[in-house]
Amino acid sequence: MSIHFTDTDPTRRARASAGPLGLAALTALRAPSLFNTQPWRWDLHDDVADLRADLDRQLVATDPDSRLLIVSCGTALHHALVALAAAGHTVEVRRLPDPSQPTLLARLVLTGRRAPTPMDLRLVQAIAVRRSDRRPFTAIPVPGESVEALRDAAERHGAHLQFLRDEQVVELTVAGQHASDAEFTDPAYRAELGAWTHRPPHAADGVPADAAVATVPRRVVVRDFAPAGDAALPPGTGTDAGTRYGLLFTDTDAPADWLAAGEAMSAVLLAAVCAGLAASPMSDITEVPAVREDLRRRILAGLGWPVLALRFGTVERPGTVPRSPRRDPGQEPS
Ligand SMILES: Cc1cc2nc3c(=O)[nH]c(=O)nc-3n(C[C@H](O)[C@H](O)[C@H](O)COP(=O)(O)O)c2cc1C
Repeated sequence: MSIHFTDTDPTRRARASAGPLGLAALTALRAPSLFNTQPWRWDLHDDVADLRADLDRQLVATDPDSRLLIVSCGTALHHALVALAAAGHTVEVRRLPDPSQPTLLARLVLTGRRAPTPMDLRLVQAIAVRRSDRRPFTAIPVPGESVEALRDAAERHGAHLQFLRDEQVVELTVAGQHASDAEFTDPAYRAELGAWTHRPPHAADGVPADAAVATVPRRVVVRDFAPAGDAALPPGTGTDAGTRYGLLFTDTDAPADWLAAGEAMSAVLLAAVCAGLAASPMSDITEVPAVREDLRRRILAGLGWPVLALRFGTVERPGTVPRSPRRDPGQEPS
């Protein structure tokens, strides 16, 4: 991600970086993204911020349609909007405002002030503590009211979160295994995973070994970010016995849906923090077209488009997943 200042006048440029939109773009740095690619940039100018997809950061083997890249940009958009609301700003958002510029995903225009609600303040605090937690969760069940809150968070942003019944978790188990087998037998995937799990420290992106968990027995496999065996996060004794799995999906399958799905994903993950739940995304099940199609038919009866799965639960030692790195906001697009 880079915060790119379009204004050539140094004084106005400095004002933009310190202004509400610059601060929102900084907060949005904490948004989750596929392989921690942070594939967006902000162009700030006075009271306007443009969110652009950075296609140079696309994972061409894992995400050839840039669907998950746009989902990742949607999480950054939602994080920025949460930051603005918490700082007392109202904003008009135009999504995909210019068909001739498909990488221009959203234009934010400041419109005024209003007092933040207690929920606005909780959500912005949740940004600071949220992590992708890949450890197996405990047997403690996820409360029904939390399930409702997570589902509502997705609906409010134009996507759906379907929680899986036990027999559907079996479908997810099969899907996860198939996706993992298909991806690990693809040299291009292995090369991409290797590159994004062994980034030089100055890159400040990618998934470090201390956010990866060794492969342990569990109901549904999670992506192995350390196939060479160097995962550094202790898995604990959980087995995912109480874990709830939700399939995030959209009604149609176009860039506008992927952007909405990213906003919904961010809203769901922040709602999970507020509910005291650990969570992590699983997108490998939609990266292999045949596996995605199978899930679409078996779980959604062909009535929607799976974006990714999310797992929710509790951990023995909350708050112990290290922060994964984020890029320097001044960095130019790579
Ligand atoms: C679109 C998308 C897909 C993701 N897919 C996976 C996944 O398949 N497995 C996983 O463990 N994490 C997945 N993640 C989480 C990212 O790896 C994570 O957000 C990133 O490494 C930054 O870490 P953080 O979430 O702890 O800040 C995904 C995130 C996004 C936004």
